[in-house]
Amino acid sequence: MTCEQRSTVYVETYGCQMNVSDSELMLGKLAAHGYDAVDRPDAADVILVNTCAIRDHAEQRVLGRLGELRRDMKPGAIVGVTGCMAQRLGPQLLKRAKHVSVVLGPDGYRALPELIERARQGERTIATTFDLEEHYEDFQPRRFDKVKAWIPVQRGCDYRCTYCIVPTTRGAERSRKLADVVREVESVVADGMTEVVLLGQTVNSYHDGEYDFADLLRAVGHVPGVRRVRFTSPHPNDFSDRVIEAMATVDTVCEHVHLPMQSGSTRVLKRMLRRYTREGYLECVAKLRAAIPGLSVTTDVIVGFPGETDDDFEETLAVVREVGFAEGFTFKFSPRDGTPATRMPAELTVPDEVASDRLARLVETIRGIARASNLQQLGRRYEVLIEREARRGDALLMSRTRDFKTVLVPGDASMLGNYATVELTGTTGSTFTGQIVRERQPLPMAG
Ligand code: 5AD
Ligand code: SF4
Repeated sequence: MTCEQRSTVYVETYGCQMNVSDSELMLGKLAAHGYDAVDRPDAADVILVNTCAIRDHAEQRVLGRLGELRRDMKPGAIVGVTGCMAQRLGPQLLKRAKHVSVVLGPDGYRALPELIERARQGERTIATTFDLEEHYEDFQPRRFDKVKAWIPVQRGCDYRCTYCIVPTTRGAERSRKLADVVREVESVVADGMTEVVLLGQTVNSYHDGEYDFADLLRAVGHVPGVRRVRFTSPHPNDFSDRVIEAMATVDTVCEHVHLPMQSGSTRVLKRMLRRYTREGYLECVAKLRAAIPGLSVTTDVIVGFPGETDDDFEETLAVVREVGFAEGFTFKFSPRDGTPATRMPAELTVPDEVASDRLARLVETIRGIARASNLQQLGRRYEVLIEREARRGDALLMSRTRDFKTVLVPGDASMLGNYATVELTGTTGSTFTGQIVRERQPLPMAG
């Protein structure tokens, strides 16, 4: 296609931040090939659905959505399915959804313009080959967010947690070059962003030659103009003393860690092949907290993993209480075809009612802890970054503290990207309302 005849593309993204980042890369690639992004599927010449395969529920949503899109799309529009579900289902997707003509796994986005072109000629293609060299270094991502930048630093995963489909859908772990990451961070700062979020499946296992994640935190954290560095998600076993030391000493690294626990029972952790015990997890949290005052810890927990007993679950609740997570993402175990957990003896299966009941108790426990802790915070002052307009549409802005509290403050779009000092005035239990005490433009930090 030539640049005079611009086409339109609509992308819908499911799943994790890595997928958001991949969608930004795909839109960037397509922009360079004459496509303008639109925010409605019925206005698009090309519709991409960037998918997640982590739980069955996520896949069912996408299948339902593909049916809706078939109704809403412009006649002749090209529909592509990308991401983890595309990688996992490949030809099955073409069979199930006749209006889909491009199926593209996470390492194949370079071919996107060409495959769309071929789809226009009536071809239906699948590209799901892994490419361990592929980091899309020459792509110019078209970022959705204007305030914080998602920066992928690693793709794939080398752990083999027995419930997880990710090693199958994203392949082996590989890290970007430190210099390439730093260059991208410099470019987002030049575009006016001050917060970066480093992304990887087990992001703290990052390594580029002799550089490890500690070196990466130092390099990124000292890029002039960067004011906040976050990362997601780390694995407890990759929190070396060096990494903890870097988190503690680089001022721009925020006092928050999202540390997936999955279970608080050593027996279950062992069957999950998480490679740490209950005590190991607690020790990791203790070390982080000792090094980083005010650190808030959030987590992921799975209930109903095969063989999880009432006692195991009680242990999970006990660890949840002991750590006092600021927030927890909770999931019912979802068997994924081809993962080792699906080959565990059938008698280990936890009945759905039991898993649902555990999920409800876990959610209640996490909420109760967060509510009690949040009530204690009222009246305190924090620095926030104003990230976006709150969805409620009542002239409220969503801002975050360094330790990841969400604070709704009054204001208008002109304040996006600014830092402010807020006083916390109320809480719903999970999020806060606040009053701005002092507001500042996002000036580069001294030095
Ligand atoms: N079933 C339920 N939850 C899962 N997760 C990963 N795989 C599964 C599965 N098969 C959860 C884990 C992970 C988060 C991203 O999704 O808690 O940390
Ligand atoms: Fe999945 Fe485990 Fe890798 Fe996380 S560390 S992506 S849970 S295999």
